[in-house]
Amino acid sequence: MSISTDGQTVDSVLDPAIDELWERRADLSPQDTDARKTVVAAVDALDAGEARVAHVSAAGPVVVDERAKRVILLAFKVLPMAESATGDFHYHDRVPLKTRFDGVRVVPGAIARWGSHFEPGVVLMPSYTNIGGYVGAGTLVDTWATVGSCAQIGRNVHLSGGVGIGGVLEPPGAVPVVVEDEAFVGSRCMVVEGARVRRGAKLGAGAIVTASTRVFDATTGVEYPRGEVPERAVAVGSTRARTFPGGEFSLPCLLVLRTLAEGEIHDKLALNDVLREHGVAP
Ligand SMILES: CC(C)(COP(=O)(O)OP(=O)(O)OC[C@H]1O[C@@H](n2cnc3c(N)ncnc32)[C@H](O)[C@@H]1OP(=O)(O)O)[C@@H](O)C(=O)NCCC(=O)NCCS
Repeated sequence: MSISTDGQTVDSVLDPAIDELWERRADLSPQDTDARKTVVAAVDALDAGEARVAHVSAAGPVVVDERAKRVILLAFKVLPMAESATGDFHYHDRVPLKTRFDGVRVVPGAIARWGSHFEPGVVLMPSYTNIGGYVGAGTLVDTWATVGSCAQIGRNVHLSGGVGIGGVLEPPGAVPVVVEDEAFVGSRCMVVEGARVRRGAKLGAGAIVTASTRVFDATTGVEYPRGEVPERAVAVGSTRARTFPGGEFSLPCLLVLRTLAEGEIHDKLALNDVLREHGVAP
């Protein structure tokens, strides 16, 4: 079974030989050249966007390609340490830097590892994207934002300065962080542990969303699923009272201030088109 989701299985586009390598991963090393070839071809498919760690549809569950996650873990077993350099600065690592940036604007200081993928029209400010991360067309990854391994970022998203999008490789079955199309993630937000920011949601600066985060509607008091910022919600970090044997304390939660109408633009968050303008043609 190469792909798992909420009870469903789907065929992976990646070579089934990966599953066999996974079974004997404890014995693999960079000296296994055949294994290395198989893994390199699979990471390259992720890099080119031909394969993807997870598939996201707005309505359905997130479909995770477990084989793709195995590819990434295997890469750390079979790739040798290698030197690379930018200017005078030398790196020593197993995963090389990404070199395929079709239609992407890459501002000096941005770093992306091979095996991440960017659709055309992405703008990378000095940020970091790890292996397996996927970023959709027209998205702005702002300064010091990090896109963790396998995180799935939609189209026309703004990941503001210093945002931390968590990665996921283990345990098997773990779902990556998903930020859907048109979402805004405010400065220094942390979105981790398979949390999901739904389409068009606006997350206030400094909010923290984990799989455990409870989400409440300020108008109705309704509670939404944990770890999910609802579609088109304008949500900010908040606290809720909680009684423990040791006394009354406050725990963090997320508060939905209001929900934007379909197509409504948040007056404070409209991003000047010139910032997204990738203009990669000379
Ligand atoms: C979330 C946000 C869009 C809310 O804007 P808004 O819909 O206009 O909401 P308001 O400013 O009217 O605030 C509503 C209430 O929530 C509070 N609030 C707003 N943002 C908050 C935040 N990030 N954290 C905690 N509380 C917040 C306000 O104090 C206000 O309460 P009050 O009426 O008692 O004063 C905005 O506060 C924000 O965080 N913008 C992101 C800025 C950013 O990160 N830019 C990126 C630069 S790279």
